[in-house]
Amino acid sequence: QTIHLKDYAPFPWIVDRVDLTFRLSPTTTRVLARVAYRPNPEAGDGPFFLHGEDLRLISAAIDGTPVAPRITPEGLTCDVPDRAFLWEAEVEIAPESNTALEGLYMSGGIYSTQCEAEGFRKITYYPDRPDVMAPFRVRIESAAPVLLSNGNQTGRGDGWAEWDDPWPKPAYLFALVAGDLVAVRDRFVTRAGREVDLAIWVRPGDEGKCDWALTSLKASMTWDEETYGREYDLDIFNIVAVDDFNAGAMENKGLNIFNSALVLASPETATDRDYERIEAVIAHEYFHNWTGNRVTCRDWFQLCLKEGLTVFRDQQFTSDMRSAPVKRIEDALMMRSRQFREDGGPLAHPVRPEEFVEINNFYTTTVYDKGAEVVSMLKRLIGDNAWRAGCDLYFERHDGQAVTIEDWLRAFADVTGRDLSQFQRWYSQAGTPRLSVTEAWDGETLRLTFVQVTPPTPGQPDKGPQVIPLTMGLLHPDGSELMPSTTIEVTEATQTVDFDGAALCAKQGKPVARPVPSLLRDFSAPVILDRPLTTEDRAFLLAHDTDPFNRWEAGRGLAREVLMARATGTDFDDAAYLDGLRAVLSDPALDPAFKALVLALPSEDDLAQSLFDAGTTPDPAAIHDAAEIQRRRTAEALGDLLAETHAANATPGRYCPDADQAGRRGLANATLSLLSRTDDGARAAAQFAEADNMTQSLAALSALLNIGRGAEELSTFEARWSGDRLVMDKWFALQVMCAAPDKAADVARGLTEHPAFTWKTPNRFRAVIGSLAGNAAGFHHASGAAYTLFADWVLKLDPINPQTAARMSTAFETWRRYDPARQERIRDTIRRIRDTPGLSRDTGEMVERMLGD
Ligand code: ARG
Ligand code: ZN
Repeated sequence: QTIHLKDYAPFPWIVDRVDLTFRLSPTTTRVLARVAYRPNPEAGDGPFFLHGEDLRLISAAIDGTPVAPRITPEGLTCDVPDRAFLWEAEVEIAPESNTALEGLYMSGGIYSTQCEAEGFRKITYYPDRPDVMAPFRVRIESAAPVLLSNGNQTGRGDGWAEWDDPWPKPAYLFALVAGDLVAVRDRFVTRAGREVDLAIWVRPGDEGKCDWALTSLKASMTWDEETYGREYDLDIFNIVAVDDFNAGAMENKGLNIFNSALVLASPETATDRDYERIEAVIAHEYFHNWTGNRVTCRDWFQLCLKEGLTVFRDQQFTSDMRSAPVKRIEDALMMRSRQFREDGGPLAHPVRPEEFVEINNFYTTTVYDKGAEVVSMLKRLIGDNAWRAGCDLYFERHDGQAVTIEDWLRAFADVTGRDLSQFQRWYSQAGTPRLSVTEAWDGETLRLTFVQVTPPTPGQPDKGPQVIPLTMGLLHPDGSELMPSTTIEVTEATQTVDFDGAALCAKQGKPVARPVPSLLRDFSAPVILDRPLTTEDRAFLLAHDTDPFNRWEAGRGLAREVLMARATGTDFDDAAYLDGLRAVLSDPALDPAFKALVLALPSEDDLAQSLFDAGTTPDPAAIHDAAEIQRRRTAEALGDLLAETHAANATPGRYCPDADQAGRRGLANATLSLLSRTDDGARAAAQFAEADNMTQSLAALSALLNIGRGAEELSTFEARWSGDRLVMDKWFALQVMCAAPDKAADVARGLTEHPAFTWKTPNRFRAVIGSLAGNAAGFHHASGAAYTLFADWVLKLDPINPQTAARMSTAFETWRRYDPARQERIRDTIRRIRDTPGLSRDTGEMVERMLGD
C-alpha cells in the first residue's frame, strides 16, 4: 500500500503528555504507557487509530475504565470520548528476538532503541508520526547498572531510574538504553552559561577510544553557537555506542545512539578516514538538535527538511575544521558516484518524494546528499547574510513545530523578497539536469549558450527548467585570471550569456584574446556539465585555474579520457595526463590532500557510468584492466617523483588525526599504492611491518592485496586484531574489495564461512557482502557468481533484518547499463528475489522499482 504526500491530514488528537514505564526483560519486557489526549481543534474527525506492530496487548483503559480495542497487524482503533482523556495500555515485547534492530532491541547484552522512522510503534501503541509532539517522562526498571533515556534524569534508585524530557518531541526521537556501560565524561558551558554534562557510553574496555568523539562533540557545540547562534538546551548530552545498528547514528533528544564504528577511535585501530567520519557524524547528530529536533518534519515526505539541511551543516563544519576545497571535492565525488547513479536509474526519486511504500527505503543519497546540495544552492543564490537571516527566521518562527519544505522556503522568500517557486523544483523533480554549454567568440564578445535538460525518471516524464547557480570565471590564455568567480543564474531551458572579453582583457592590460571559461566552479550545482573540452583545454585548466575544484576536475577529465580510451581499445596518448600529474606533484604550494585526490583514478563504477553516458556499453573487466594498466604506467613514468613524494610526506612522531597529518599520509599512501606496482610491494611490506597506526597498516595491506600479495600480512593482521570487532570489519572488507575480479565471489564466500562472520550484525554483513558489490569488476564478473552469492545473502538477511537487506539490494540498480547477457542475469536475479515467498515490504518495494515493470 502506497502512502501519498497529497493525502496528509493532521492527527485528530493532541498529545499533552506521555508517561512510559519499562520493566525490562530480554524476552518479556513490559511497557506501560499513560498518554493524555485531547481533541485537536485544527483537525477533522477521524478514528482514534494508534500504530502498533508486534505488540502483545495486556490491557487498555480510558480514564481508568478497561476498554477492548480492535487490533490489526498495523495498530488498533478504539471508541474514545469526544473530550480530553487518559489512555493507558500495557504491552509485552521481546527485545532479544528483535533482529530487525528497529524499536527496542538488544545488542551485545545492551538494551537499545532505534525509532526513526517508524520504530516506536514496535514499543507501544501510539500515533507514531512526526507531527504529534509531546513531552515524555520515562521510568526504567531493570537490574542493569546503567539506565538512560531522553532529557534530564529526575530520579535514580536501586533497580530504577526516571527521566524527564521537557521538550515536546515526536516519538521517532524517543530513546532508551540499559546495560553494562561505562562513561567517559566531560563538560561544556554554553554561551548562555548552561553547564552541560557530556558523556560517551561504551562497553567496558572501550573507554580508551572515546577521546576523539568527545573532542568532536565539543567542537560541534562551539561551532553551532558561533556559526548559527544555536545553543544546547538540556543539562545532559549522552552518546551511546552500540555494535548492532542499521544506520550510522541517531539524533534522539539528549541521547544520541551511534553505530560503534562512528564513535570508537584510537590511532592503532582507526584510520584517518574513520577519524574524519566520526568528527562529521558526531557533528551531524548534534546539529540535528536544532535542525530536526527543535524544528522537525510534518511527515516523512519532508525528510530532506532535516537531513539535507543537517548534512549541509556538517559539511560546512568539516570545511571549517579541515580543508574547504578538499571537502568540496570529496562531496562532489560522493554526489557523482552515488547520487547521480541513483538519480539516473530506476530508483530515482525527488529530494522530497511524493509517495512511498516503506519510508526506510527513502533514507537515500538523494534525500541526504542532493538535499544538502539544494540547501547549498539556496545559500549561494541569496548570499551569506540572507542565508543567516533566513535561518534565524526559520528557527524563530517554527521552534517546537513540525513543518514542511514550503515553510522552510517561505522563511527565505520573506527575508529576501525573492520568488522561490522555480527553485522549489529542486525538491520536486527527480533526475540530474544536464547542462550543455557551447561557446562563440567574435573577437570581442564571448557568448555562452546553455541548454538544460533533465531526463525522464520513474513517474516523471517531463521536467521544467530549474534555476542553476553557475559559478564561473574567465581565464586569459596566458594563464592569468580575467574574471574572478561570479555566480550566474541559468533559469531557462536555453539561455545565452555574453561577456565582454575585449574589455576584460583591456582592463588587465592584456592583449585581446579569446577567454577560457572555467565553469561550475566549486561544483556550484548538482548537474552534469556537458562541455566539449580538448585535452589541451583540460591541461590548461589543470595548470592555471584559480578554483581548486575545477583544477581537480580538469585533472580528473584527463584521467577519464585516458581510461575510457583504454577500456574501449581506442587510440590515445596519456602524455598530457602524466605531465599534469608531474606538475601537480611537484607544486610545493599545493595541499598534499589535494594532490592525493588528483592522483586517484575515477572509480570503476564511475567509469562504467561515464561510458554508458557516452553511449558505450561498459565492460567491467576491460575497465578494471584499463585502470590497472594505467596505474602501472603511471608508476613507471613517474617513479622517481612518486618515490620522492612518498618520502617527503612521511609523518614521523606522534600520530594526530588532523587534516595536515591525514593529508600527508593520504598522499604518501596514494603514492605507495602506485609504487607497489613497480617495487613488487617492497615498500608496502616494510610499511606494514613498521606501522604503529591503522592508517599506515591498512594502506600497506591494501597495496599488497592489490598486487596479489599480502597473504602472510593478512594472517598477522588477523592474529593481532581478532578481538577487535571494528578492526576485523576492515579485515573482512579489504579482502573482498581487493580481490581479483575472477576471485571476488570465492573470497567473499570463503569469508562467510569464517567463524567470525557474524552476519546478523550489519557492520559485518556489509563488510563482506556489501564489499562484494563495491568490487565492481568482481561483482559484475561474467560468470555471474557474485550476483548469485549476493542475492542468496540478501534473501537470507531479509526475514531477520529487512531494512539492511533492502538497502543492500540496491546494488543491482545499475543493471540497465550493461550488455544483454549481464542484464539478463541481473534481471533474473532480481526476479528471483522478488518471487521469494514472504519477502519483506522493504526489499519488495526496492526490487519492484528496480525492475520497473
Ligand atoms: N536520522 C538519522 C541521521 O541521519 C538516520 C536514521 C536512519 N533511519 C533509517 N530508518 N534509515 O542522523
Ligand atoms: Zn541525519
